[in-house]
Amino acid sequence: MRPFALERYLSKHEFSVKHVACASDPDTLRVEELLAFDPTAKDRLLGMSLGYTEAKGAPALRAAIAKLYVGIEADDVLVHVGAQEPIATFFTSLLEPGDHVIALTPTYQSLTSVAETLGATVSRWDAREADGWQPDPSQLEALVTPKTKVLVINTPQNPTGGLLTRDRFDAVCAFAAKHGLWLLGDEVYRGLEHGGPQLPAMAEVSERGVSLGAMAKVYGLSGLRIGWAVCRDRSRLAAMEAAKDFMSICAAGPSEMLSTLALQHASVLRERTLATVRSNLGLIDGLLELFPQHLSWTRPLAGTTGLLRVRRESATAWSERLLNEAGVLFAPSVLFDWPDTHVRVGLGRKSLGEAMGVLSTWLERQ
Ligand SMILES: Cc1ncc(COP(=O)(O)O)c(C=O)c1O
Repeated sequence: MRPFALERYLSKHEFSVKHVACASDPDTLRVEELLAFDPTAKDRLLGMSLGYTEAKGAPALRAAIAKLYVGIEADDVLVHVGAQEPIATFFTSLLEPGDHVIALTPTYQSLTSVAETLGATVSRWDAREADGWQPDPSQLEALVTPKTKVLVINTPQNPTGGLLTRDRFDAVCAFAAKHGLWLLGDEVYRGLEHGGPQLPAMAEVSERGVSLGAMAKVYGLSGLRIGWAVCRDRSRLAAMEAAKDFMSICAAGPSEMLSTLALQHASVLRERTLATVRSNLGLIDGLLELFPQHLSWTRPLAGTTGLLRVRRESATAWSERLLNEAGVLFAPSVLFDWPDTHVRVGLGRKSLGEAMGVLSTWLERQ
C-alpha cells in the first residue's frame, strides 16, 4: 500500500509544531462539555459496560444518524470507526483486480489509494481552480471504461473547500445512473456550507449511492472515531458489514454513546464549527489583501479546508522554510497528489488567528 502522504506528514509534525495551520478537524470539546448537554448523560456513561457492541452500531446512534438525512431509516446506516473505515469496507467488498474507478480530485488519499491497493485503476477527474474548483462534467464520458464500477465524489471537497454546483451534482448522478456505477459520496464535510445551500446526500438521491459521514469534522469530535455509511441498498451494507468483521468488528461503546448525545444536539455543534470557519475565512481574506504578491486563493465554499496558492516559490520549499523559521505548519499540495503550487489551510480552529499573526510577521520579513 502506498503510504498515506498527509498522515505521514502530520504524524511527523502535528504534535510537536507550535502552530498547526492545516488541520481539517475543527476545535473539539472536553467530555464534560458534551455531557453537559443532558443531565442524565454522565451517569449513563459511567454505568456503561465495556464489552463488544453491535456490529451494525448502537440502535440509538443509527437512528440519530438516519435523522440527518431525508428518507433514510436506521437500517440504512452502518456505523464504522471513523469515515476512514467505510472507505475500506466499501472498496474491499466491491472491487476486484482490473476494476476501474473514477474519482473527483484532488482528494483525501484513501479514496484513491485503497482502490489501487485492491488492484483497481483510478482515473482522476480534476477540479479546476480557474472554475472555482469545479470539475467539468463533459470530461466524464471520456473517462468511463467497460470496467468502471465506481464514481467517487468528495464534496464538500478536501483540500480545496470546493462544493459542486447543483447542476454538476445532478450531472454526476445522471452519469452514474446511465453507466450503472456505484456512487461513493464522501460527505464528511456536508453541513459546513459557508453560506450557500446544502446538496442532497448521494444515498438520498440514488439507490446505488453510498454516503459517508463522520463525527470528526462537522461536530468537532474526531477522537471519538465514529463514522458511518448510509445506503438504501441493504445488500451493499451487508457486504460492507462483512468486510468490517476483518477490521474493527464494532465501534467502542462509550464513543457510540457520546456520538448519539452529540447528534441530539447536532445543529448547536455544527453552528459552533461554522462560526469559527466563517471568522477564519475573514482572517485569511485580510492576510491575502496585505500580501497579494505572496499568496492568493480561490475562496472555499464549504468544509474546514482551503488551498492557498504560493506565488513565489514551490509550495513545499515555502512550507519548509515557514515551518523551520516560524513554527507554522501548512500542508503542501503534493501531499494530495497535486502539483507543488498550493498549501492547505485548516479553517476550523480558533488558534488559526495566532498562526496567521506569526505568518504575517514572517511574510513582512521576506
Ligand atoms: C474527505 C475525508 N474523508 C474521510 C476522512 C476520514 O475521517 P475520519 O477521521 O472520521 O476517519 C477525512 C479526514 O480527514 C476526510 O477529509
